[in-house]
Amino acid sequence: MHSIAEVLNKDYIGKDVTLHGWIYRIRTSGKLTFIILRDSTGLIQLLSSTKSLTPEQHRELSGLTVESSLEVTGTVREDTRAITGFEVEIHSYRIFQRNESFPISRDLGEEFLLDNRHLWIRSREFTAVLKVRSTIFKAFADFYYNNGFYQVQPPIMVSTATEGGSTLFKVPFFGEEVSLSQSSQFYLETFIFSLEKVFTISPSFRAEKSRTRRHLTEYWHAEAEVAWIGNEEMMKIEERMIEYIVSEVIRHNEEDLKILGRDIEFLRNIRAPFQRIRYADLMKMAQEWGLPLKYGDDLGADEEREIMVHFDKPVFVTHFPKSLKTFYHMPDPENPDEILCHDLLAPEGYGEIIGGGERIWDLKQLEQRMAESNLDPKDYYWYLDLRKYGSIPHSGFGLGMDRLAWWIMKQETIRDAIPYPRTIRRIKP
Ligand code: 4AD
Repeated sequence: MHSIAEVLNKDYIGKDVTLHGWIYRIRTSGKLTFIILRDSTGLIQLLSSTKSLTPEQHRELSGLTVESSLEVTGTVREDTRAITGFEVEIHSYRIFQRNESFPISRDLGEEFLLDNRHLWIRSREFTAVLKVRSTIFKAFADFYYNNGFYQVQPPIMVSTATEGGSTLFKVPFFGEEVSLSQSSQFYLETFIFSLEKVFTISPSFRAEKSRTRRHLTEYWHAEAEVAWIGNEEMMKIEERMIEYIVSEVIRHNEEDLKILGRDIEFLRNIRAPFQRIRYADLMKMAQEWGLPLKYGDDLGADEEREIMVHFDKPVFVTHFPKSLKTFYHMPDPENPDEILCHDLLAPEGYGEIIGGGERIWDLKQLEQRMAESNLDPKDYYWYLDLRKYGSIPHSGFGLGMDRLAWWIMKQETIRDAIPYPRTIRRIKP
């Protein structure tokens, strides 16, 4: 058996090959039937005619419909008119399934395609999306393995909120109520005392009622935590990681990016270092661009979009006011009302893909910030223990993998970048 990509090669001319796949397109003139077959590796034209098949066989193949599944054996020849430059003349075949008409065709509405995502993921466009995502996930892990990190597996059912109680998903747990993890950060912090440099790629859950282009209720969260480093060193690692992931996508997915219409030259320009802009300075810049923002305002999807249309590379925004971020962030010793943190905003209007920074590692300081946030220390006893036994400076971050994929592929909404989006209005299929 061969793959389609393998036989799109002059070495196979005149040879017999066996291919498996699904009918992508079919067109017949009566005497000749052209089938475009697809498998996971590509497309190839097949020819059915009575020259190499019986009239019954030729009729049977000619009556097949899109997405029927089959195996064919035939001879390869070069044909510049064919979709990928080669054609296989069928000698024998086996039909696995003859379809009724396939429900998905061109120009269908977004909701219909979302209801039929299980079928739509076979499309050329979505296959390209899946291949790009696969590269992104591998490249993220490879980058950290290559830099001496360990991959760890934190729990998903948890009893402690990381990013505030308002976006917690509650689930029953043997008479108790627990929640689904919003972030693995606190668990990653526990692992650094054994491993120093750790990462995970896990699902995170946010019960956010947002209907923006960038919110999911379940998303893939790539997080890392590193012992002994501060905010600036953390950003240095992250910008190299983003550069590496983008370069791997260019290297492995050029064809997929073309299918998706993504400008590859733009991506080639995504090189570290990325600009660092303090939150206070960004507010001044935003005012100069005429945006109604002032110091102390939070940045949502709309504000970030309007800011990031002005940039063609990602930007780190640092030193947010303490009031805008969660309790665990380290205040800046030079100005304790601001924190040593960063958001990485993607260009072309995409906005935040990473949130991270330096963690408070002094017990008293952390207890004080928890009290200011009305949190019960009992709920966080294990997190506080980390500040009692061998505490050290450390930093970390969380990267929304679906947001990264969404931006790299320049999709319309984040729902176009994940196979089975979970949003406030969608849990099927
Ligand atoms: O900024 P966030 O909330 O930070 C944290 O969760 C930290 N505890 C991470 C850490 O330091 N380990 O979320 C991090 C990233 C965001 O920048 C965004 O990319 C993504 O997670 N994210 C979402 N992605 C899709 N849908 C949502 N509803 C998201 N919420 C956050």
